[in-house]
Amino acid sequence: MAQAEIGLIGLGVMGSNLALNIAEKGNTIAVFNRTVEVTRKFYAEAGALQSQIVPCETIEEFVAAIRPPRPIIIMIKAGEPVDQQMELLKPYLEKNDIMIDAGNANFRDTMRRFDNLKDSGLTFIGMGVSGGEEGARHGPSIMVGGKEDSWKRVEKVLTSIAAKYNDDPCVAWLGENGAGHFVKTIHNGIEYADMQMIAEIYGILRDGLKMSATEIGEVFGEWNKGRLNSYLIEITEKVLKAADPITGKPIVDLILDKAGQKGTGKWSVIEAQNMGIPATAIEAAVAARSISSVKGEREAAEKVLGLPAVGEFNVADKTAFLKDLESALLAAKIGAYAQGFAVMAEASREFNWNLPMPTIAKIWRAGCIIRSAFLDEITTAFTKDPNVANLIVTPAFSGMVKETDGALRRVVSAAVLGGLPVPALASALGYFDSYRRGRGTANVIQAQRDFFGAHGFDRIDGADSHHGPWGSGLIA
Ligand code: 6PG
Repeated sequence: MAQAEIGLIGLGVMGSNLALNIAEKGNTIAVFNRTVEVTRKFYAEAGALQSQIVPCETIEEFVAAIRPPRPIIIMIKAGEPVDQQMELLKPYLEKNDIMIDAGNANFRDTMRRFDNLKDSGLTFIGMGVSGGEEGARHGPSIMVGGKEDSWKRVEKVLTSIAAKYNDDPCVAWLGENGAGHFVKTIHNGIEYADMQMIAEIYGILRDGLKMSATEIGEVFGEWNKGRLNSYLIEITEKVLKAADPITGKPIVDLILDKAGQKGTGKWSVIEAQNMGIPATAIEAAVAARSISSVKGEREAAEKVLGLPAVGEFNVADKTAFLKDLESALLAAKIGAYAQGFAVMAEASREFNWNLPMPTIAKIWRAGCIIRSAFLDEITTAFTKDPNVANLIVTPAFSGMVKETDGALRRVVSAAVLGGLPVPALASALGYFDSYRRGRGTANVIQAQRDFFGAHGFDRIDGADSHHGPWGSGLIA
């Protein structure tokens, strides 16, 4: 057999699916796993794809099986294990070989790893892979960061395995060092917001309109045929309609309301805050997961405070309200995506990445968890105006905001008056209302800062007076 085009270490769920995908697309791949039995089992179960796979039981054998310069995908648990694996691998590698971390790494770790290899002659790619198990097997969205030369070496293989939107492969080189992992992190931040907003709408339907899981599933199913068409809406319908094999009840009603999180949402918010870019909808979504996780405290608080004393949730016209919910979800979604893209635009300036916004939207149209029809509209908007300050002032999206924000306002109002928590929806609305108001209220904050700390302020008339007359007279 000819030398393998690429190698992969780590035959867990994601690694083995990615390896099978690579093999299936006609590439020869060498694979290695720390536990030899895992490699043997993987190979034994690979069926017809065995002819494209070189199973290796030692690192020496593995490295020798790959055509230099060797691209080696490391698909193991993010964090410390990646550093350990890289150290183990390094002595066997040669100049220009490329270690590729395909896990959900913090981009700051990716930058560090990239820098640490600078003088070694080896190179590094930080590669975000989205789409879960299915995506890895049949076509993920792939976000690549590293040297352009390294990308050139892997471009063909990665293009062959990526998801396709029409005929466009959902993979791209996005910039140097941490660019790929940063974009994947923001993808996940947006994913958190999308999921939370869906959950809040579900809450209004369940606790406000008292609809059953199956009925709510129907509603999401209808919405999936319209402007909200997306993978997350599609799976929400399926989730809501699934029956528990033990009780026959909707499984969703039996799932504990505590959400897990591995860190990418939190990193998005930390980086947004570091750069001073508001990402309030993503923040609200991360915080909502944290509140969800203190189940015991919430139950105790309900006993002390009770639920809000608001009486029956009242909507005059259910059909019109359902339409409003659909539009509200679209409006809020626009807010979350606008924030995510604004964070990436600032990071691009700060880290000199030159992130291509239209390309990012393009490679998120298929394969990844947030894939949707909506991302095609974002692609078009950024293609027309790649340097626009914010997605919501582009002609297409400002039009959509104007069309849907009334519904978001009505839905948030109804939820607030009905005592139902909608932190992410309300954050998106607050973002629109603050961002579109030319004259805000920070004049009072500036005055307060100057009053207690002599921090100074600028005047709207440009006069050269930067402190207030705080000790002198008041207006009569
Ligand atoms: C993807 C997903 C994937 C994973 C998240 C889940 O793009 O394929 O985002 O990366 O499912 O890590 O993250 P949480 O465990 O934090 O929800």
